[in-house]
Amino acid sequence: MMMHGVPIKHLNTFGIDVTAKQIVTACSETELVACWQEAKEKSLPVLLLGGGSNVLFLEDFAGILLLNRLMGVSVTEDKNAWHIHAGAGEDWHELVSFTLDRGMAGLENLALIPGRTGSAPIQNIGAYGVELEKVCEYVDLIDLTNGVNKRLSAAECRFGYRDSIFKHDYRDGYAIVAVGFILNKSWRPVLTYGDLTRLDSKRVTPREVFDTVCAMRRAKLPDPAVVGNAGSFFKNPLVSADVAQNLLRHYPEAPHYPQPSGEVKLAAGWLIDQCAMKGFRLGAAAVHEKQALVLINGGQATGGDIAALAMYVRRQVAEKFTVWLEPEVRFIAAEGEVDAVGVLS
Ligand code: FAD
Ligand code: EPU
Repeated sequence: MMMHGVPIKHLNTFGIDVTAKQIVTACSETELVACWQEAKEKSLPVLLLGGGSNVLFLEDFAGILLLNRLMGVSVTEDKNAWHIHAGAGEDWHELVSFTLDRGMAGLENLALIPGRTGSAPIQNIGAYGVELEKVCEYVDLIDLTNGVNKRLSAAECRFGYRDSIFKHDYRDGYAIVAVGFILNKSWRPVLTYGDLTRLDSKRVTPREVFDTVCAMRRAKLPDPAVVGNAGSFFKNPLVSADVAQNLLRHYPEAPHYPQPSGEVKLAAGWLIDQCAMKGFRLGAAAVHEKQALVLINGGQATGGDIAALAMYVRRQVAEKFTVWLEPEVRFIAAEGEVDAVGVLS
């Protein structure tokens, strides 16, 4: 008998028109664990999903899409800081707005990032000079095999650039159920990036930083409600000082950001742009015209179309610069996540 899946186009911001065998919405830890254990008994794969804004579905998903919708926000305060405890299912941008509306500053540079709060620590979301690790106090997760809760301090989360322990030791069989934030009452604006550098650090308000970040993002990044995309498709590559020096000899204008480790971060968008690929189309997939690091769904693209374009872009950059880009986006096949670099190699 033919099995028809449930469409999930609306559950991934790339707008890839695939199906899952079943969709389950979990509003409590009990529901999360019950769904996961039932699926395991039936040998069905499970994929936890927040806003679907950092995933690329390569084909129909053969298992259960488990939507994490654990809600609730509570605030406590002490002399120096506000402590915010947010359910993993809370919309990230709404949480940023919620805190700002109540005079609690600190999340404004991270405005307008799509997705849910529980996903934010996984790749240590970052934008405009701030990464989540700067404001994270702890992350609560649950072991789906036995329902046991665990709280990791920010230090235990091993945050790095687009990285954390949730992509490694706690990648499989765990769900993030809540995130704790600490927002210092003595607010210091971070004005190191783009148009923010034009603001006066002595007079600027958190709301102005928020507005400026939103304006910069709207000018460059496509709105997933209009054009399917998952933000930056690749990570900015970290290269050795030698590789960076060599590149800068040939391209002195190349954006580069020395890291405390001695490595240098290059701008993947610039590398792709130098290959003259802005606006480049391959089938129904395209490189965004205003930001070369963003790949877009030009209409009816399949996951395979996006991956084929990513493979082409990656080769062009490697041929010109001998730098191999790695996807930031997580690749999902029928049985679950697959190694994205492997798919593109
Ligand atoms: P999803 O895509 O739903 O899930 C991502 C991964 O986390 C998947 O592997 C999923 O299985 C897993 N997962 C989801 N929820 C849980 C959970 N509760 N427990 C365990 N695992 C879970 N990112 C940035 O860092 N900075 C940016 O500036 C930025 N800008 C973006 C702009 C646009 C237009 C878009 C579309 C994306 C952008 N992103 C950015 C990427 C994305 O928004 C973030 O990675 C976001 O945190 C993903 O959240 P999500 O809920 O959509 O995650
Ligand atoms: N650039 C170009 N051409 C392009 C794109 C970029 O020359 O087509 C140059 C820019 O002029 C700039 C440099 O490359 O000198 C960096 O570009 P940008 O400031 O736009 O930032 P990015 O490195 O492309 C990163 C994050 C974004 C985040 C912004 C703002 C990664 C992978 N991406 O993008 O995060 O919003 O900085 O802080 O680190 C995401 O992760 O999905 C994401 C959107």
